[in-house]
Amino acid sequence: MDRIKITGGTPLKGIIPISGAKNAALPLMIASLLTSDRLTLKNVPNLADVNMLARILRNHGADHSIEGKRANPSTLMGDTFHLTARDIVDTTAPYEMVSRMRASFWVLGPILARMGEARVSLPGGCAIGTRPVDLHLDGLKALGAEIDIDAGYVVAKAPRGLRGNKIVFPKVSVGATHQVLLAASLARGETVIENAAREPEVGDVAECLVKMGAGIEGIGTSTLRIQGRTRLDGAIHTVLPDRIEAGTFACVVAATGGDVVLEGARRDLLVTAIAALEKTGVSVTDSPDGIRIARNGAGIEPISLETQPFPGFPTDLQAQFMALMTRAKGTSVIRETIFENRFMHVQELARLGADIQLHGDTATIRGVKGLKGAPVMATDLRASVSLVIAGLMAEGETMINRVYHLDRGFERLEEKLSRCGASIERITG
Ligand code: UD1
Repeated sequence: MDRIKITGGTPLKGIIPISGAKNAALPLMIASLLTSDRLTLKNVPNLADVNMLARILRNHGADHSIEGKRANPSTLMGDTFHLTARDIVDTTAPYEMVSRMRASFWVLGPILARMGEARVSLPGGCAIGTRPVDLHLDGLKALGAEIDIDAGYVVAKAPRGLRGNKIVFPKVSVGATHQVLLAASLARGETVIENAAREPEVGDVAECLVKMGAGIEGIGTSTLRIQGRTRLDGAIHTVLPDRIEAGTFACVVAATGGDVVLEGARRDLLVTAIAALEKTGVSVTDSPDGIRIARNGAGIEPISLETQPFPGFPTDLQAQFMALMTRAKGTSVIRETIFENRFMHVQELARLGADIQLHGDTATIRGVKGLKGAPVMATDLRASVSLVIAGLMAEGETMINRVYHLDRGFERLEEKLSRCGASIERITG
């Protein structure tokens, strides 16, 4: 199993290119199941989760190819995917696949809408809470699906197709919004989703569905009005930049000090996180190519924040900000309101000398004078990268074990960081 070795203490300087967003690329790839025509996706990040989903889609009958060969593997450009699901040859998504990546559960709605039936294993994914799928199933039932749970599988039927309806989600869910949005695009009539997730990745999927022929109003708002079609066309769509990757690298620079341009990063996707960073004393300015992050000399100011659905502070940046706060000049408070168990990084950060107290959904972080490198364990995707940040701040060597979590969501992390002067290397095997 690969490990990552970090020696902390070097300020970063240079340019970090931001990849396409994993959380948009996955549902966009799934949208290919809605049409027998070709869906071309540009700027797809090369990640373990993306490759896994491509395998799952192939299993359902999607033909998948990657355009050309990379002229130079270090150009860090995203891939262009062609996906054509001329026929859905298998309406079952098996446990062995879905359990490895939660987002693959979202194939349920599209396969059901297109084929009138689908059998999809209940999901697994990051161990950050119970993560139920009740909202997904309620949404599909509202569109006319009959749903049973049988031996760990969701068995959904709609022999006469799905019909549009009004759905009011009692809670904001990114996944349930994707699920219903995808299915409703191939349902008869109009669907209105109220309390829809406003995450930019949902908007990106909606814009692609519009290119495929669906009528969608209210993109970017909490009310989505979808005019379903009996058939959707192919399209060409570019995946939007990964705001979580950009926010993570911004935290890295805030942590180590230095001056880095996040190439391709979009400020409008990161408003709350940038406001939080500025409060810590980091300078965030626009550059012609993206966003420039700098911290020179001055220490890190403590802050308090609470995770919220977009446009609030993203739960996917909570662990990274906590790592940063371990070295702040005072006490910070972070409240996690989205996932009840998303504090697994706390114990590992403590191994490096962080002072963090947990009370229910709230972490109190007292800034310490210095962290000291140690062996640590990656536990989930975003928690793993918080250990990278802490390791880069720590004195001496940090060895991160189980880095396959990082490979699920961060493209060439070590390469992007070492080009800016960080001492970070992968030890294979
Ligand atoms: C997506 C993101 C993940 C991010 C999360 C919140 C992808 C691939 N993953 O995950 O990175 O951390 O949004 O921004 O895009 N819930 C229910 N019932 C449901 C569904 C969700 O109670 O049927 C709850 C969850 O337990 C959680 C909250 O709703 O407490 C939000 O979860 P949700 O937005 O659905 O997260 P995911 O789509 O799984």
